[in-house]
Amino acid sequence: MFTQSLDLSDKEFQLFQEIIYRETGIHMSDKKRKLIVARLSKRLRALNLSTFTEYYEYLNESSHADGEIVNLVNRVTTNKTDFFRERHHFDFLLKELYPRTIAESRTNGVRRLRIWSAGCSSGEEPYTLAMVTLDAFKAERGWDIKILATDLDTEILQKAVTGVYPTQAITPVPKEYIHKYFVRKGENYEVGNVLRSMVAFRKLNLMSETFPMKNPFDIIFCRNVIIYFDTKTKEELLTKFHRHLKARGHIFIGHSESLMHMKERFRYLKHTIYQKV
Ligand SMILES: C[S@@+](CC[C@H](N)C(=O)[O-])C[C@H]1O[C@@H](n2cnc3c(N)ncnc32)[C@H](O)[C@@H]1O
Repeated sequence: MFTQSLDLSDKEFQLFQEIIYRETGIHMSDKKRKLIVARLSKRLRALNLSTFTEYYEYLNESSHADGEIVNLVNRVTTNKTDFFRERHHFDFLLKELYPRTIAESRTNGVRRLRIWSAGCSSGEEPYTLAMVTLDAFKAERGWDIKILATDLDTEILQKAVTGVYPTQAITPVPKEYIHKYFVRKGENYEVGNVLRSMVAFRKLNLMSETFPMKNPFDIIFCRNVIIYFDTKTKEELLTKFHRHLKARGHIFIGHSESLMHMKERFRYLKHTIYQKV
Protein backbone atom coordinates (compact mmCIF):
# COMPACT_ATOMS: atom_id res chain seq x y z
CA MET A 1 0.00 0.00 0.00
CA PHE A 2 1.32 3.47 -0.88
CA THR A 3 1.70 5.69 2.15
CA GLN A 4 2.63 9.36 1.96
CA SER A 5 5.95 10.18 3.61
CA LEU A 6 5.96 12.60 6.51
CA ASP A 7 7.53 16.07 6.43
CA LEU A 8 10.78 16.73 8.25
CA SER A 9 11.48 20.44 8.86
CA ASP A 10 15.02 21.90 9.04
CA LYS A 11 14.70 22.24 12.80
CA GLU A 12 13.50 18.65 13.20
CA PHE A 13 16.28 17.35 10.97
CA GLN A 14 18.81 19.17 13.14
CA LEU A 15 17.34 17.65 16.33
CA PHE A 16 17.62 14.15 14.85
CA GLN A 17 21.14 14.84 13.59
CA GLU A 18 22.12 15.79 17.14
CA ILE A 19 20.51 12.83 18.86
CA ILE A 20 21.96 10.32 16.34
CA TYR A 21 25.41 11.89 16.65
CA ARG A 22 25.25 11.79 20.44
CA GLU A 23 24.12 8.17 20.57
CA THR A 24 26.20 6.64 17.75
CA GLY A 25 28.87 9.09 16.62
CA ILE A 26 27.32 8.87 13.15
CA HIS A 27 27.24 12.20 11.36
CA MET A 28 24.08 12.42 9.24
CA SER A 29 24.97 14.89 6.51
CA ASP A 30 22.26 16.90 4.73
CA LYS A 31 22.31 14.22 2.02
CA LYS A 32 20.89 11.76 4.57
CA ARG A 33 17.72 13.74 5.13
CA LYS A 34 15.63 11.58 2.81
CA LEU A 35 17.04 8.47 4.44
CA ILE A 36 15.89 9.62 7.87
CA VAL A 37 12.38 10.34 6.57
CA ALA A 38 12.21 6.99 4.79
CA ARG A 39 13.50 4.92 7.69
CA LEU A 40 11.64 6.65 10.52
CA SER A 41 8.23 7.31 8.94
CA LYS A 42 7.18 3.70 9.45
CA ARG A 43 8.18 3.84 13.09
CA LEU A 44 6.16 7.04 13.63
CA ARG A 45 3.09 5.39 12.14
CA ALA A 46 3.54 2.30 14.29
CA LEU A 47 3.57 4.59 17.33
CA ASN A 48 0.58 6.55 16.02
CA LEU A 49 2.56 9.78 15.88
CA SER A 50 2.00 12.26 13.08
CA THR A 51 5.03 14.58 13.26
CA PHE A 52 8.77 14.20 13.83
CA THR A 53 8.49 16.69 16.70
CA GLU A 54 6.11 14.32 18.46
CA TYR A 55 8.56 11.48 17.88
CA TYR A 56 11.43 13.58 19.23
CA GLU A 57 9.40 14.31 22.37
CA TYR A 58 8.55 10.62 22.68
CA LEU A 59 12.27 9.81 22.48
CA ASN A 60 12.99 12.21 25.29
CA GLU A 61 10.33 10.94 27.68
CA SER A 62 12.22 9.01 30.31
CA SER A 63 9.62 6.22 30.59
CA HIS A 64 10.55 4.70 27.21
CA ALA A 65 13.58 6.70 26.11
CA ASP A 66 16.15 3.88 26.40
CA GLY A 67 14.09 1.35 24.48
CA GLU A 68 13.16 3.82 21.77
CA ILE A 69 16.74 5.02 21.30
CA VAL A 70 17.59 1.39 20.46
CA ASN A 71 14.82 1.44 17.84
CA LEU A 72 16.03 4.71 16.40
CA VAL A 73 19.63 3.50 16.23
CA ASN A 74 18.64 0.21 14.62
CA ARG A 75 16.89 2.15 11.88
CA VAL A 76 19.60 4.64 11.02
CA THR A 77 22.66 2.40 10.89
CA THR A 78 23.98 1.23 7.53
CA ASN A 79 24.63 -2.51 7.77
CA LYS A 80 26.00 -3.35 4.33
CA THR A 81 28.50 -6.20 4.55
CA ASP A 82 29.57 -9.38 2.73
CA PHE A 83 31.48 -12.57 3.27
CA PHE A 84 35.11 -12.05 2.15
CA ARG A 85 34.51 -8.33 1.67
CA GLU A 86 37.84 -6.68 0.74
CA ARG A 87 39.43 -10.05 0.16
CA HIS A 88 42.98 -8.70 0.22
CA HIS A 89 42.69 -8.42 4.03
CA PHE A 90 42.06 -12.15 4.32
CA ASP A 91 44.85 -12.91 1.83
CA PHE A 92 47.19 -10.86 4.02
CA LEU A 93 46.17 -12.88 7.09
CA LEU A 94 46.59 -16.21 5.29
CA LYS A 95 49.79 -15.51 3.41
CA GLU A 96 51.65 -13.06 5.64
CA LEU A 97 50.45 -12.39 9.16
CA TYR A 98 49.38 -15.90 10.25
CA PRO A 99 52.48 -17.73 8.90
CA ARG A 100 54.60 -15.13 10.75
CA THR A 101 52.53 -15.55 13.95
CA ILE A 102 52.94 -19.33 13.76
CA ALA A 103 56.70 -19.06 13.11
CA GLU A 104 57.10 -16.67 16.06
CA SER A 105 55.18 -19.00 18.35
CA ARG A 106 57.95 -21.60 17.87
CA THR A 107 60.35 -19.29 19.70
CA ASN A 108 58.13 -17.23 22.04
CA GLY A 109 55.76 -20.07 22.95
CA VAL A 110 52.67 -17.84 22.58
CA ARG A 111 49.68 -19.82 21.33
CA ARG A 112 46.93 -17.32 21.96
CA LEU A 113 45.19 -15.14 19.40
CA ARG A 114 42.51 -12.55 20.07
CA ILE A 115 40.63 -10.88 17.22
CA TRP A 116 37.97 -8.17 17.40
CA SER A 117 35.49 -7.41 14.64
CA ALA A 118 34.22 -3.95 15.71
CA GLY A 119 31.05 -3.02 13.81
CA CYS A 120 30.43 -6.62 12.75
CA SER A 121 26.93 -6.06 11.28
CA SER A 122 25.14 -9.32 10.41
CA GLY A 123 28.20 -11.50 11.06
CA GLU A 124 29.74 -12.06 7.62
CA GLU A 125 33.01 -10.38 8.68
CA PRO A 126 33.66 -12.32 11.93
CA TYR A 127 32.57 -15.63 10.35
CA THR A 128 34.95 -14.98 7.42
CA LEU A 129 37.70 -14.28 9.96
CA ALA A 130 36.87 -17.56 11.70
CA MET A 131 37.08 -19.60 8.46
CA VAL A 132 40.36 -18.05 7.35
CA THR A 133 41.90 -18.39 10.80
CA LEU A 134 40.89 -22.05 11.12
CA ASP A 135 42.37 -22.70 7.70
CA ALA A 136 45.68 -21.03 8.56
CA PHE A 137 46.00 -22.85 11.90
CA LYS A 138 44.71 -26.27 10.76
CA ALA A 139 48.06 -28.01 11.15
CA GLU A 140 48.70 -26.39 14.54
CA ARG A 141 47.88 -27.81 17.95
CA GLY A 142 47.11 -26.22 21.31
CA TRP A 143 46.11 -22.74 20.12
CA ASP A 144 43.56 -20.67 22.03
CA ILE A 145 41.84 -18.51 19.40
CA LYS A 146 38.80 -16.31 19.96
CA ILE A 147 36.94 -13.72 17.95
CA LEU A 148 34.88 -11.00 19.60
CA ALA A 149 32.26 -9.45 17.30
CA THR A 150 30.45 -6.28 18.39
CA ASP A 151 27.87 -3.86 17.03
CA LEU A 152 25.46 -1.40 18.56
CA ASP A 153 22.52 -2.37 16.34
CA THR A 154 20.65 -5.05 18.31
CA GLU A 155 18.55 -6.28 15.36
CA ILE A 156 21.55 -6.84 13.12
CA LEU A 157 23.39 -8.58 15.97
CA GLN A 158 20.45 -10.96 16.34
CA LYS A 159 20.82 -11.78 12.66
CA ALA A 160 24.52 -12.46 13.18
CA VAL A 161 23.80 -14.78 16.10
CA THR A 162 21.13 -16.62 14.07
CA GLY A 163 23.76 -17.13 11.35
CA VAL A 164 21.42 -18.08 8.51
CA TYR A 165 22.24 -16.66 5.07
CA PRO A 166 20.59 -16.97 1.64
CA THR A 167 22.53 -18.84 -1.06
CA GLN A 168 23.27 -15.56 -2.82
CA ALA A 169 25.10 -14.20 0.25
CA ILE A 170 27.28 -17.30 0.42
CA THR A 171 28.63 -17.02 -3.17
CA PRO A 172 31.93 -15.29 -2.22
CA VAL A 173 32.77 -18.16 0.18
CA PRO A 174 35.16 -20.76 -1.33
CA LYS A 175 33.41 -24.11 -1.95
CA GLU A 176 35.60 -26.08 0.45
CA TYR A 177 34.74 -23.65 3.26
CA ILE A 178 31.00 -23.94 2.50
CA HIS A 179 31.20 -27.75 2.80
CA LYS A 180 33.22 -27.56 5.97
CA TYR A 181 31.55 -24.79 7.88
CA PHE A 182 27.91 -24.42 6.74
CA VAL A 183 24.82 -26.59 6.91
CA ARG A 184 22.34 -26.36 4.05
CA LYS A 185 18.80 -25.48 5.12
CA GLY A 186 16.59 -25.41 2.00
CA GLU A 187 17.41 -22.17 0.17
CA ASN A 188 19.65 -20.99 3.00
CA TYR A 189 22.92 -21.86 4.64
CA GLU A 190 23.40 -21.96 8.37
CA VAL A 191 26.72 -21.40 10.09
CA GLY A 192 27.87 -24.64 11.74
CA ASN A 193 29.02 -25.19 15.30
CA VAL A 194 32.74 -24.99 14.54
CA LEU A 195 32.45 -21.35 13.49
CA ARG A 196 29.88 -20.50 16.14
CA SER A 197 32.13 -21.70 18.92
CA MET A 198 34.88 -19.33 17.81
CA VAL A 199 32.83 -16.13 17.67
CA ALA A 200 31.22 -14.30 20.61
CA PHE A 201 28.72 -11.58 19.66
CA ARG A 202 28.13 -8.67 22.04
CA LYS A 203 26.36 -5.32 21.92
CA LEU A 204 28.91 -2.53 22.20
CA ASN A 205 28.68 1.13 21.31
CA LEU A 206 32.04 2.32 19.99
CA MET A 207 31.17 5.74 21.42
CA SER A 208 31.41 4.41 24.99
CA GLU A 209 34.16 6.19 26.86
CA THR A 210 35.80 2.93 27.81
CA PHE A 211 35.43 -0.64 26.59
CA PRO A 212 34.95 -3.52 29.04
CA MET A 213 37.46 -5.90 27.42
CA LYS A 214 40.39 -6.53 29.74
CA ASN A 215 42.85 -8.29 27.47
CA PRO A 216 44.40 -6.62 24.44
CA PHE A 217 43.81 -7.81 20.88
CA ASP A 218 46.28 -9.05 18.28
CA ILE A 219 44.00 -7.94 15.46
CA ILE A 220 41.20 -5.38 15.19
CA PHE A 221 38.96 -5.23 12.14
CA CYS A 222 36.99 -1.98 12.09
CA ARG A 223 35.98 -1.66 8.48
CA ASN A 224 33.42 0.68 6.93
CA VAL A 225 32.42 2.05 10.32
CA ILE A 226 34.57 5.16 10.92
CA ILE A 227 33.56 6.45 7.50
CA TYR A 228 30.32 7.67 9.15
CA PHE A 229 32.15 9.49 11.96
CA ASP A 230 33.55 13.03 12.03
CA THR A 231 37.27 13.68 12.61
CA LYS A 232 36.99 14.16 16.38
CA THR A 233 34.96 10.97 16.92
CA LYS A 234 37.31 9.03 14.64
CA GLU A 235 40.41 10.15 16.52
CA GLU A 236 38.92 9.37 19.92
CA LEU A 237 37.94 5.90 18.74
CA LEU A 238 41.36 5.21 17.24
CA THR A 239 43.01 6.24 20.51
CA LYS A 240 40.87 3.61 22.25
CA PHE A 241 41.72 1.00 19.60
CA HIS A 242 45.41 1.81 20.08
CA ARG A 243 45.01 1.14 23.80
CA HIS A 244 43.23 -2.17 23.16
CA LEU A 245 45.83 -3.49 20.70
CA LYS A 246 48.85 -5.53 21.75
CA ALA A 247 52.29 -4.13 20.98
CA ARG A 248 52.77 -4.49 17.19
CA GLY A 249 49.10 -5.56 16.84
CA HIS A 250 47.33 -5.02 13.52
CA ILE A 251 44.33 -2.92 12.58
CA PHE A 252 42.34 -3.27 9.36
CA ILE A 253 40.05 -0.49 8.12
CA GLY A 254 37.66 -0.03 5.18
CA HIS A 255 38.67 0.67 1.58
CA SER A 256 37.79 4.36 1.69
CA GLU A 257 39.28 5.01 5.13
CA SER A 258 42.82 6.02 6.12
CA LEU A 259 44.99 6.35 9.23
CA MET A 260 47.76 8.24 7.43
CA HIS A 261 47.21 11.25 9.71
CA MET A 262 48.03 9.10 12.79
CA LYS A 263 51.52 7.97 11.77
CA GLU A 264 52.89 8.25 15.29
CA ARG A 265 50.39 5.59 16.43
CA PHE A 266 49.80 3.36 13.41
CA ARG A 267 52.45 2.34 10.91
CA TYR A 268 51.21 1.87 7.35
CA LEU A 269 51.86 -1.66 6.05
CA LYS A 270 49.61 -2.05 3.03
CA HIS A 271 46.45 -0.46 1.68
CA THR A 272 44.11 -0.14 4.73
CA ILE A 273 46.34 -2.36 6.93
CA TYR A 274 48.29 -0.76 9.81
CA GLN A 275 50.40 -1.89 12.75
CA LYS A 276 50.48 -0.38 16.23
CA VAL A 277 53.60 1.68 16.84
C1 LIG B 1 28.61 -0.75 6.95
S1 LIG B 1 28.61 -1.85 8.32
C2 LIG B 1 30.20 -2.59 8.15
C3 LIG B 1 30.19 -4.06 8.49
C4 LIG B 1 31.55 -4.77 8.34
N1 LIG B 1 32.54 -4.23 9.23
C5 LIG B 1 32.04 -4.68 6.92
O1 LIG B 1 32.95 -3.91 6.61
O2 LIG B 1 31.50 -5.40 6.07
C6 LIG B 1 28.83 -0.72 9.69
C7 LIG B 1 28.38 -1.29 11.02
O3 LIG B 1 28.86 -0.43 12.07
C8 LIG B 1 27.88 -0.36 13.07
N2 LIG B 1 28.06 0.87 13.86
C9 LIG B 1 27.83 2.15 13.49
N3 LIG B 1 28.06 2.99 14.51
C10 LIG B 1 28.46 2.22 15.56
C11 LIG B 1 28.82 2.51 16.91
N4 LIG B 1 28.83 3.76 17.38
N5 LIG B 1 29.14 1.47 17.72
C12 LIG B 1 29.13 0.19 17.25
N6 LIG B 1 28.80 -0.14 15.99
C13 LIG B 1 28.46 0.87 15.15
C14 LIG B 1 26.56 -0.39 12.31
O4 LIG B 1 25.47 -0.80 13.12
C15 LIG B 1 26.87 -1.36 11.17
O5 LIG B 1 26.45 -2.66 11.46
